[in-house]
Amino acid sequence: MTFPTHVRLIEVGPRDGLQNEAQPISVADKVQLVNALTDAGLGYIEVGSFVSPKWVPQMAGSAEVFAQIKHKPGVVYGALAPNMRGFEDAVAAGVKEVAVFAAASQAFSQRNINCSISESLERFVPIIEAAKQHGISVRGYVSCVLGCPYEGQVSAQQVAAVAKELYAMGCYEVSLGDTIGTGTPTATRTMFEAVGAFIPREKLAGHFHDTYGQALVNIYASLLEGINVFDSSVAGLGGCPYAKGASGNVATEDVLYMLNGMGIETGVDMDKLLLAGEHICNVLGRVTGSRVAKAREG
Ligand code: HMG
Ligand code: MG
Repeated sequence: MTFPTHVRLIEVGPRDGLQNEAQPISVADKVQLVNALTDAGLGYIEVGSFVSPKWVPQMAGSAEVFAQIKHKPGVVYGALAPNMRGFEDAVAAGVKEVAVFAAASQAFSQRNINCSISESLERFVPIIEAAKQHGISVRGYVSCVLGCPYEGQVSAQQVAAVAKELYAMGCYEVSLGDTIGTGTPTATRTMFEAVGAFIPREKLAGHFHDTYGQALVNIYASLLEGINVFDSSVAGLGGCPYAKGASGNVATEDVLYMLNGMGIETGVDMDKLLLAGEHICNVLGRVTGSRVAKAREG
């Protein structure tokens, strides 16, 4: 197995990282975070969500954030859209790439988006059709790929079935989410093998929450499976409001450190990334979740 020479990092901190925060965060602070991440060289930043503010209050200002961020040419600024209403709001805000999100577990689908897996997939069809007409790319997520907070074990075949549908309906990439961070490397490889039977591996991404401290080793296991796109969150911020106890995504700084050490390019500047993480942690009054940032702080 040879490792890739380049990995694409999808920075989800402003969305997955902040969506779970109970304290108010101003639009200006969110804009500052996105701009700092742009300056650090990230090529894809998930800026916000066009979801119901009753369900996820923290994402309510997403349109304002989009209006105020610096749009650097070549950088993708994405947002979640769970339904047509969210898609239309995203388009109105000038968003050029959206992500739809499904789950591999029925119970999580109900809790997170108030519908069954098949209902959610039906909902996404017209979104993807409309997106094509607007020249908007659509990324797909599958949650609970290595365990569900309500159902426990989730089979790799079930993950593959949902991922296959998203890809077939036109998602250009499908990100497989270990929402509660319970996965281990062997299960990660089995899951990617199952999904890889239906979708080319270059169209898949790994999205690991670090709840059980397994995220980096799961990324390594994913690299061995030929996966070279990973979602991560600066300072390890975040968690899903509908997955109790789910901690943040793997810290971008820590993924970058590992990839730098392996000689894999990302285009991301560590020092600038550390500054972005330090700033948002100060705003939130939080200790960073990045081991690299802690080590650098001395
Ligand atoms: P619902 O209550 O079934 O929706 O929620 P509804 O269509 O019956 O509408 C109810 C109300 O919401 C109406 O307003 C709608 O207008 C409004 P009312 O008449 O009561 O005043 N509404 C909206 N408002 C703003 N934007 C919208 C929107 N849609 C309806 N787009 C819904 C269904 C999907 C909207 C809701 O369940 C929802 O917003 N869920 C989002 C949950 C979420 O964002 N979760 C976190 C992101 S997923 C995640 O973190 C996992 C991931 O990171 C991967 C991983 O880690 O595994 C991606
Ligand atoms: Mg997530």
